[in-house]
Amino acid sequence: MGVIATLLQGPVGHEVGHMVAQYQPIKLAAMEAQFETTDWAPLRIGGVPDMEARQTNRAVEIPGGLSFIAYGDPSSTVRGLNEFPADNLPPVPVVHFAFQAMVGIGTLLIGLAVWIIWRAWRKQPLSGNKLLLVLIVASGPLSIVALEAGWIVTEVGRQPWIVHGVMRTAEAVTESPGVVALFAVTITVYAILAVGTVVTLQLLSRTPLPENSDAA
Ligand code: HEM
Repeated sequence: MGVIATLLQGPVGHEVGHMVAQYQPIKLAAMEAQFETTDWAPLRIGGVPDMEARQTNRAVEIPGGLSFIAYGDPSSTVRGLNEFPADNLPPVPVVHFAFQAMVGIGTLLIGLAVWIIWRAWRKQPLSGNKLLLVLIVASGPLSIVALEAGWIVTEVGRQPWIVHGVMRTAEAVTESPGVVALFAVTITVYAILAVGTVVTLQLLSRTPLPENSDAA
C-alpha cells in the first residue's frame, strides 16, 4: 500500500500545484520563495529567503521547474512576491521551509518505493539490505513530518487571508468568550490521554505472554 500510495503522491502533488497557481498565486510564490515575476521560473532545492534583499540565497535552481509545475509549460510566466502588497504576504520563510521539507521527504519516499519495487523485481528479499530496512522504519515518522509540513504550507501559506482575496483571518477570529478555557481543557485531556497511552503500552510490554498464547 505504501509503495503504491507513495508513487501516486508525486502526480497528485503536481496537480495540486496547478490549482494553487490558479487560485492562490501568492502561496505558490511563497512556497518557492519566488520574488521576481519571470518566465522560466526555477524550481528551488533548498534556499534561504532574504525578506530584506527580496531574494532567495543558496538554492539549487532548476530553470523552468516552477513554471512547469504551475502551468505545465517551463517558459510560462509566474507572478513573484514583489507583485503583491507587503501586507498580503504570508511569512515566506515558514512556507518555503515547510514546502521544502514536504517535497524533500516525498521525493525520498518515492525513491524508497522504486528501490523496493526493484528488489522485488530482482527477487531479492527486503531483509537483505540494512539501509533499506532503516529507511523503511524511518519512512513512518517521516511521513508524519511531511503531513504536518503539508498542512503548514496550506494554512500558513494562505495568510493573511482566511478566504483568499475575500476575508482576512483577523476579521474571522471569534470574539466569543471561553475559547481560552476550552482550549486549555482540550490540551489537558489530550495530554492525559497521551501519558495514559504511553504508560499503558509500557505496562503491557512488561506483562509476560501466557504460555499457550498463539503470539508466543
Ligand atoms: C512528492 C512531492 C509532493 C508535492 C509536489 C506536494 C505538493 C503539495 C502542495 C502544492 C500542497 C499545497 C496545497 C494547497 O495549499 O492547496 C500540498 C499540501 C499538502 N501535502 Fe504535499 N506534496 C508532496 C508530498 C507530500 C507527502 C509525502 C505528504 C505526506 C505524507 C504530503 C502531505 C500534504 C498535506 C497533508 C497537505 C495539506 C492538504 C490540504 O490542504 O488539504 N505531501 N502538497
